[in-house]
Amino acid sequence: MQNKAQEFDSIAEEVFAPLYPVVAEQILQITGKESGTCLDIGCGGGHLGLEIARMVDMRLVLADISADAVELARKRVGGWGFSCIAEAVVAGVHSLPFADGSFDLIVSRSSVWFWDDHLGAFGELMRVLAPGGIIFIGSGFGKQRVKQAVIEKMRERSPEWPKKVKKKTGAEHTPQTIADTFNQLGGLTEIFQNDCGGWVICRK
Ligand SMILES: C[S@@+](CC[C@H](N)C(=O)[O-])C[C@H]1O[C@@H](n2cnc3c(N)ncnc32)[C@H](O)[C@@H]1O
Repeated sequence: MQNKAQEFDSIAEEVFAPLYPVVAEQILQITGKESGTCLDIGCGGGHLGLEIARMVDMRLVLADISADAVELARKRVGGWGFSCIAEAVVAGVHSLPFADGSFDLIVSRSSVWFWDDHLGAFGELMRVLAPGGIIFIGSGFGKQRVKQAVIEKMRERSPEWPKKVKKKTGAEHTPQTIADTFNQLGGLTEIFQNDCGGWVICRK
């Protein structure tokens, strides 16, 4: 029997896989980051952070509140041959075990919807972000063709999935509410939203 993290990881591997390199490329294009240290918070199996590390010369920290997810991410770091530049740690976003200003880029895909207390969580992200650093947070599929392929495959696995995602991502927290919270913390935000996803970009 698979645990929750293993279940999500097999979906990431079998269905979501094509979206990670597309989203990673978008993040790098928009932020212009290509060196320093990147944190992927709520990393699950680590796919997004690892795609970023594959594309640019950055150190990578993968972090997730679930020890099961971190075990998978750690195995993937080794499996992809990235042990010399990447590590995976168990950490919840509300209390991050990192020094102030540790990261030049913080990414987070499809995790923010699970966090309580956005003000506290985003305050922690702003604390560990270096001056001049950028947070890229939200959810998305990258491009239309990838989105359609993912939705079709997910419908076969679980017909209710598109509705569930819409409910989770569209209700209480939207890119606008996320941006408003970062603004309260002194961040400079922009929203990047289209029919393939919604992201908030926050600069310090
Ligand atoms: C839907 S998965 C997304 C995983 C990965 N970012 C991806 O796109 O493949 C959400 C992840 O957020 C993690 N998560 C939920 N609450 C968290 C918190 N408070 N701090 C850190 N991670 C959290 C979960 O354990 C889970 O691995």
